[in-house]
Amino acid sequence: MKLQTQVGIVGAGPAGLMLAHLLNLEGIESVVIENRSRDYVQERVRAGVLEQGTVDLMIRTGVGERLLRQGLVHKGIEIRFNGEGHRIDLHALTGGRAITIYGQNEVVKDLTETRIASGKPLFFECEDVHVSGFDAEAPRIDFRHSGEGHQVRCDFIAGCDGFHGVCRPSIATGALTIYERTYPFAWLGVLARVAPSSDELIYANHERGFALHSMRSPQLTRLYLQCTVDEDLSAWPDDRIWDELQRRFETRRGWTLRRGPIEQRGVTPMRSFVAEPMQFGRLFLAGDAAHIVPPTGAKGLNLAIADVLVLSKALAEFYSHGSSDALNGYSSTCLARVWKVQRFSWWMTSMLHRFPDETAFDRRRQTAELEYLTSSRAAAQSLAENYVGLPI
Ligand code: FAD
Ligand code: DHB
Repeated sequence: MKLQTQVGIVGAGPAGLMLAHLLNLEGIESVVIENRSRDYVQERVRAGVLEQGTVDLMIRTGVGERLLRQGLVHKGIEIRFNGEGHRIDLHALTGGRAITIYGQNEVVKDLTETRIASGKPLFFECEDVHVSGFDAEAPRIDFRHSGEGHQVRCDFIAGCDGFHGVCRPSIATGALTIYERTYPFAWLGVLARVAPSSDELIYANHERGFALHSMRSPQLTRLYLQCTVDEDLSAWPDDRIWDELQRRFETRRGWTLRRGPIEQRGVTPMRSFVAEPMQFGRLFLAGDAAHIVPPTGAKGLNLAIADVLVLSKALAEFYSHGSSDALNGYSSTCLARVWKVQRFSWWMTSMLHRFPDETAFDRRRQTAELEYLTSSRAAAQSLAENYVGLPI
């Protein structure tokens, strides 16, 4: 089967689906190609913190109805260390901005439903996805669906296929510069059917390692604890997870973590990664396909949304005025913000985790950083403006 469209989008994660939605509002045609099933994509538990700008965009473009009803608006977060909690008042420090807790899979559900309701093409369970022709004037995506070969011819390809996708590796070797850092630890994450133990998120730096208390709803708690890169999940029965979390969140005054049935668990590796530029010919990379941040600070999903907002505007300018200026500036516009967010995610990660090779000096300096952060308005404000999201 042969299809012709304006923009061929590879990947139906937050980046691909939001791009398809924004383009549709601009009257630009697209085809979305995803290799996983709809259920798989919608049930994948990942990020859960939406920046103010992501929330505003969803509401403004008509996909925020459920988010407005079910999202939990948080005006502060807690930083906990040395047995003491310290609140960072995001709202007061940013002139009234906040974050919203709403699972990435819920964002994906809302965007998938919107796409399907629009009647525009979205293919799940595609096999052998292959992109070509983007270095010339003939971008093309080939794939197999329900046993049949398909070909999409388009003006542009948007590579929204995540870190392990096919688009970035299809770019000629040598055309991209890769900047990368791996971290000597990972996160063990669990989703538990129990009411959150705190009204706000808690980021804890403890002798035994980092821990994070988050949530998905008034009945669902999301928790993470720092573990080794090759952690064996079978060595973590439920009681061990709860005992370890309880210890890492302990306070001098006493604090109890509510326990409940664990519904999902997984290990997330930590990496900082940027591929430059984010464009090659008529192929544009967006979201995790172009960059990865370590999860401390909750930026991955929000960065993906920021990229596709920039890309949709550039494509709209191309189709309405015939100007390629914004498309040519896509990579540098995005990267200026991407690197600021990389810095923030690296800084949060460095401040909150134990490093296997750290010296006594490093540990003292880390404590000083936390004490400065929680006692200086200037330092807290810097965290707050990054946490609620830098301007796009
Ligand atoms: P993705 O969500 O990865 O979407 C890419 C899509 O492309 C996927 O649906 C994939 O199936 C599809 N695809 C891949 N290859 C192909 C192909 N060949 N053909 C067609 N389709 C393809 N961020 C946080 O802020 N906090 C967290 O706690 C957090 N936890 C995470 C846990 C995990 C396990 C992972 C992997 C990421 C996590 N992130 C987290 C990061 C955040 O989820 C990502 O930054 C976000 O998903 C980026 O969106 P995206 O659309 O760019 O990529
Ligand atoms: C969540 C994930 C994060 O990486 C983070 O920094 C805060 C919250 C979450 O999944 O809820």
